[in-house]
Amino acid sequence: MWFPVYVCYFLVTVAAAGDFFSNGEPTVFRKCCPRQHSLVKVVTDHYKHFDCLDRLSLAQTYNISYSPLIISDERFVTVDYGLPILCDGINMIVSAVDLEAKLSTSLNICYDRLVAEVSNGTLMPYIPQTIGLTCINNETETKSESALQINHVRKCCKKGQVFSARYHVCVDSGDNDEQWIVDRLNLTDSYVYEVDIGLQCKSDEYAVELRQRDYTFSVDKNVLIATNRNDRSKTDSLMKGEWCMDQGYDMEDMVAKICTRNCATFNAFCVRKCCPEGYHYKVRRCNSLVSSCVPNVDEQNYFQPMYYLEPLRNDHFGLTDIMGIRTNLECPDGKFVLNRSDPRDNHRLTAEGLLESSISLTSDYCIEMFDRRHCPENDVISSTVLCFIAAEKIKDFRVAFVINSISSVCLALTLIVYCALPELRNLHGQTLICHVSMMLLAYSCLARVQYSPVFDKLTCKLLGNLYPQLLYKLVK
Ligand SMILES: *[C@@H]1O[C@H](CO)[C@@H](O)[C@H](O)[C@H]1NC(C)=O
Ligand SMILES: *[C@@H]1O[C@H](CO)[C@@H](O)[C@H](O)[C@H]1NC(C)=O
Ligand SMILES: *[C@@H]1O[C@H](CO)[C@@H](O)[C@H](O)[C@H]1NC(C)=O
Ligand SMILES: *[C@@H]1O[C@H](CO)[C@@H](O)[C@H](O)[C@H]1NC(C)=O
Ligand SMILES: *[C@@H]1O[C@H](CO)[C@@H](O)[C@H](O)[C@H]1NC(C)=O
Repeated sequence: MWFPVYVCYFLVTVAAAGDFFSNGEPTVFRKCCPRQHSLVKVVTDHYKHFDCLDRLSLAQTYNISYSPLIISDERFVTVDYGLPILCDGINMIVSAVDLEAKLSTSLNICYDRLVAEVSNGTLMPYIPQTIGLTCINNETETKSESALQINHVRKCCKKGQVFSARYHVCVDSGDNDEQWIVDRLNLTDSYVYEVDIGLQCKSDEYAVELRQRDYTFSVDKNVLIATNRNDRSKTDSLMKGEWCMDQGYDMEDMVAKICTRNCATFNAFCVRKCCPEGYHYKVRRCNSLVSSCVPNVDEQNYFQPMYYLEPLRNDHFGLTDIMGIRTNLECPDGKFVLNRSDPRDNHRLTAEGLLESSISLTSDYCIEMFDRRHCPENDVISSTVLCFIAAEKIKDFRVAFVINSISSVCLALTLIVYCALPELRNLHGQTLICHVSMMLLAYSCLARVQYSPVFDKLTCKLLGNLYPQLLYKLVK
């Protein structure tokens, strides 16, 4: 009775595998190091070779943490472990592997993540990179390609942590690792993954947190496609380096964190936070809010500015369901903290994510938790930091304008007198008339410029040049 069912299952499995690699390409992946191990290059004075280290010894011996290459489904791919055989370390060459490139199945090459170099006993960490390791004295082998590619995904939090969209931070929970993420993403296009940890958005981008409650996710190569559940037409593609995924805390589903400049695309309510993720402000001196960023120590330090969000939640249903957070507030002229208990500092967050206070309505603000538990207040409050705006120095030309106008009037009177009286028109008088008329023209130009800004470019140039040109001619 059960026999046909098993046969059926077997056939389906084989068909699925055969479908993907229908052109009969081998599905062998040559990994240099055993499972969960990564490559380290060891260099001494006369010798070079490659070592495999697992993440535990990397962490214990060298205090570095990197995730190994992940094979997502070993039913469909055969993994051959080991460095190129019969090859000395001196003869091995390292080549970079492009994410789109087809991998070779030659016995002469193997692939893995190169994470560090140990030179003379000291460690130099690399930016981990998937590389191919080839033996140079063996070039006779024919090249054979597999359909496998190396793909790239990011897990938002490190091993053993999940992402809390409520507190906007990674929290310890269970033992979920890179393998877990790769398995949960239902990836079908390829089977070899490099997983990096964490996501760093650019300084002008918001990290928007999307939950499976609101979005469906699918991953195609290195691209995350997020589709809004309520509005299927709202679909966005996030490229490599713009997204990470992790398990959500308190809920079984997944959370994606994505980098964007435009929160409206994702219906996200975006705010600015002063310290980096996982940090909060600790006040340096009691009775003041002057603070520095320190790592969170407990739940009270988590970023949850209820004082600002609660009124918005009451007035706008669902507004803060999807949140985005941007750090890095740059204030060239310094910053100051608003005091919530001082009526003069009265302020609030608007539904557009701007900060409204008595002095401004601005997007250049940030909110942070201020820990005062070592002070008499003994509390943790959220408050807002604003940038000082340097008073613009507008030069006042009014006095100069008045004085120059008086000069011009006097010059004009002199000119009139000399022109009107014929007995003054001797040689001396004529030179004086010439001199005074030029002076008059120059001073009137100057007075006009000092009276108010000249917006027409040509007029402005003319007025500005006439004055020094005329004076120069006169002095000569
Ligand atoms: C390990 O490295 C981190 C920074 O990467 C450093 O803060 C920490 O002190 C190091 N620990 C030891 C035991 O060297
Ligand atoms: C390694 O250390 C030895 C002595 O400890 C020194 O002579 C040599 O130059 C060093 N080599 C490198 C590559 O740093
Ligand atoms: C080349 O590699 C093969 C195994 O793939 C090995 O049997 C052979 O000895 C190698 N040739 C040289 C010159 O190292
Ligand atoms: C992957 O598939 C499982 C079962 O079909 C589903 O529950 C899960 O939500 C899927 N994951 C993603 C990220 O779509
Ligand atoms: C905030 O303002 C209140 C009321 O004006 C004042 O009592 C308090 O000292 C201020 N706090 C700080 C830290 O300046």
